[in-house]
Amino acid sequence: MTTKVVPGQLVAVPDVASIATEASSRVARALREAISRRRTASLALSGGSTPRPAYEQLAREKGIDWNAVEVFWIDERAVPPDDDRSNYKLAKLSLLDRVGVAPAKVHRMPGEAKDLPAAAADYEKLLRRLLPSGGFDVAVMGVGDDGHTASLFPGDPGVHESARWVISVPAAPAKKCEARLTVTPPVIEGCGAVFVLAAGGAKHEPLQRAWSTSGTLDETPSRVLRGVRGSLTWIIDKAAGGMG
Ligand code: 6PG
Repeated sequence: MTTKVVPGQLVAVPDVASIATEASSRVARALREAISRRRTASLALSGGSTPRPAYEQLAREKGIDWNAVEVFWIDERAVPPDDDRSNYKLAKLSLLDRVGVAPAKVHRMPGEAKDLPAAAADYEKLLRRLLPSGGFDVAVMGVGDDGHTASLFPGDPGVHESARWVISVPAAPAKKCEARLTVTPPVIEGCGAVFVLAAGGAKHEPLQRAWSTSGTLDETPSRVLRGVRGSLTWIIDKAAGGMG
């Protein structure tokens, strides 16, 4: 019987709508704090289905100087920016178009690039120029049903990457997973405030694996979140918490 120790803070709420409310108010507070400290804030966004309502609610939060926010991505699929699978398109429609972030402050991961390793290296150069602390001030992340986070998938070498900040991930046709670009553990660990959103019963088991005092990164890449040096907050609904 392994012990579960939640690294960071656990916020359990009734449902997905409550995840959006909790996440948007906490992300907004973290952005305001970063801006008050450094007159700017870096915000990194993930894709998937869970964050959309949180991004829509974040767009309605008051008191955020969006002119001071630089927007980045945690990961991106190897698709054009207007593709429905694009994490950029998700953020553009649910948040960026609603708050009017200046295009120069929207740092899209070029998932459509023909040479993904080169695109990863270019994005890394951008991060090294713009992220003095090596991580984002604020990051919104998720946990896949298979235990992945970002685009660090079980059995992939990326979860052990300690030098590069951005890597490309080859397509996995058997898993119907397109190629990706993703930040790596050094960037995730260097973030100031990470908010992990998880909804639904399918997240219960991967969360238990992420929180277990034993387990491997290869089996459960979201265990990389245990190394976040800033604040780490898990915002989950009852189903993800195994409460029916
Ligand atoms: C992606 C995301 C990914 C996501 C998890 C959870 O590109 O798919 O960045 O890492 O956070 O897959 O996704 P859900 O929110 O859909 O459960």
